[in-house]
Amino acid sequence: AASSVEQDVVIIGGGPGGYVAAIKAAQLGLKTTCIEGRGALGGTCLNVGCIPSKALLNSSHMFYEAKNNFAHHGVIIENPKVDWTAMQKQKDTAVSGLTKGIEGLFKKNKVEYVKGWGKIVGPNKVEVALSDGGSKIIDTKNIIIATGSEVTPLPGVPIDEKKIVSSTGALVLKEVPKTMVVIGAGYIGLEMGSVYSRLGSKVTVVEFLDHIVPTMDSEVRRTFMRTLEKQGLSFKMSTKVSKGEVVGEKVHLIVEPSKGGPSDKIEADAVLVSIGRRPLLKGLGLDEVGVKMDNRGRVAIDDHFRTNIPSIYAIGDVVQGPMLAHKAEEDGVAAVEIIAGKAGHVNYNTVPSICYTHPEVATVGITEDEAKAKGLAVKTGKFSFMANSRARAVEDADGLVKMIADAKTDKLLGVHIMSANAGELIHECCVAMEYGACSEDLARTCHGHPTLSEAVKEAAIATAFGKPIHM
Ligand code: FAD
Ligand code: NAI
Repeated sequence: AASSVEQDVVIIGGGPGGYVAAIKAAQLGLKTTCIEGRGALGGTCLNVGCIPSKALLNSSHMFYEAKNNFAHHGVIIENPKVDWTAMQKQKDTAVSGLTKGIEGLFKKNKVEYVKGWGKIVGPNKVEVALSDGGSKIIDTKNIIIATGSEVTPLPGVPIDEKKIVSSTGALVLKEVPKTMVVIGAGYIGLEMGSVYSRLGSKVTVVEFLDHIVPTMDSEVRRTFMRTLEKQGLSFKMSTKVSKGEVVGEKVHLIVEPSKGGPSDKIEADAVLVSIGRRPLLKGLGLDEVGVKMDNRGRVAIDDHFRTNIPSIYAIGDVVQGPMLAHKAEEDGVAAVEIIAGKAGHVNYNTVPSICYTHPEVATVGITEDEAKAKGLAVKTGKFSFMANSRARAVEDADGLVKMIADAKTDKLLGVHIMSANAGELIHECCVAMEYGACSEDLARTCHGHPTLSEAVKEAAIATAFGKPIHM
């Protein structure tokens, strides 16, 4: 049946892009509907991404510390053990609490939540196959596509979500595997690889390129890889997996050098395929309506999140830019501001990326390699956490801050931090860059003592004046 009231905006997808856009749209006074088919709000991020992975990273870190580092601090626990069921339950409770919280926010802000799978059937019409059965047509002035992404499959290595898993299966393995092969040394591979390594799995990461996380500063990622190796992860670089099959309880993999050469066999109890994600647009009706794609299979948009059809917008993982929850949220807010006639805008130069391993690696702005490739004259400053009093006091001093600024104007262009809590430390740099600050501005800002943040200040001093104080 047709819905009686025409909506100002219908958002397809209830992930961080879609649900944040919906709340903001309603706050701006727009009649707003959000359609979500998975049965819970929060998208990939809350249900099978950011949140459950961070829960397991935290629990596994506590176990690792209890086993390896507590005694040194005078805390004696005989033979700490993992209760995998309890660990899973803690994660699930965190997830369900948060997804229900969004339903509450929808009610509070008067967003209509329609449960089902949406399909665009015209520039101003969305059909929903309702979760409870039947279907419904919603008329709307504007549509926002916020359907997110799915795992990129690897030909020859079929995912069964039991033995050969994507990140989704990796969050709910029946038991901690004795051996695990991770294909792809990116964000998912290193985070989930760390989880299982800490819990006792022998983890081997197979990476196509000769370096891990391609988007990180090369100096930082070299230090990062050495640290992960010290923690027990092993890496097979410049290697590709050509075939994988489940044989009894094991997975047999055929690997070969990326550039070709003799192949080799490896066996594991579980294999994680984490070679990237791709936009999820199946069954959305984009072809029929004539929405254009870009050359990488994403929805093509202009600077105002508008597709080639003026009433249809797209945000988050389905469009260009980093596939990150906070980026999707910024897209969502800016898109509905534009729909409401305001000046929505996102500054992608100040979107941070954070890898939540231990230590964490956080990045904002350009890397030194990118600066060189662009022919920019830059200066850099560095500071090691070995010289930071707080990091030394708590004996968690692996890592560094590296800052990149314009050689002439001193304007901050990028900051790269590897340390405990780097994901929190990076934000003063994001704010500084948003305000167009120089490294000297950070260098002259008083930082509390003793804090890890003082390492950021010291790196700024090194960038602005050539030498830090404490190193
Ligand atoms: P999604 O979150 O994918 O949401 C899209 C929603 O749309 C889904 O719920 C889907 O069911 C729904 N949908 C799709 N099609 C339809 C349809 N036709 N009708 C109705 N509903 C539909 N990012 C970070 O920033 N930090 C992290 O720590 C982090 N960790 C991650 C860990 C893992 C294991 C994974 C897989 C991803 C992680 N990400 C992280 C990435 C992050 O999850 C995504 O960038 C983010 O969720 C994108 O938001 P989105 O709203 O664009 O899409
Ligand atoms: P990724 O893009 O981060 O890393 C994929 C890695 O796999 C790269 O190093 C790539 O070189 C390698 N690779 C590609 N093809 C390969 C092949 N055939 N064999 C071996 N290696 C291969 O992708 P990932 O880890 O799957 O994550 C997807 C996205 O999800 C991330 O890019 C990120 O946007 C998001 N994410 C963000 C997190 C965070 O912010 N902390 C955590 C997890 C995911």
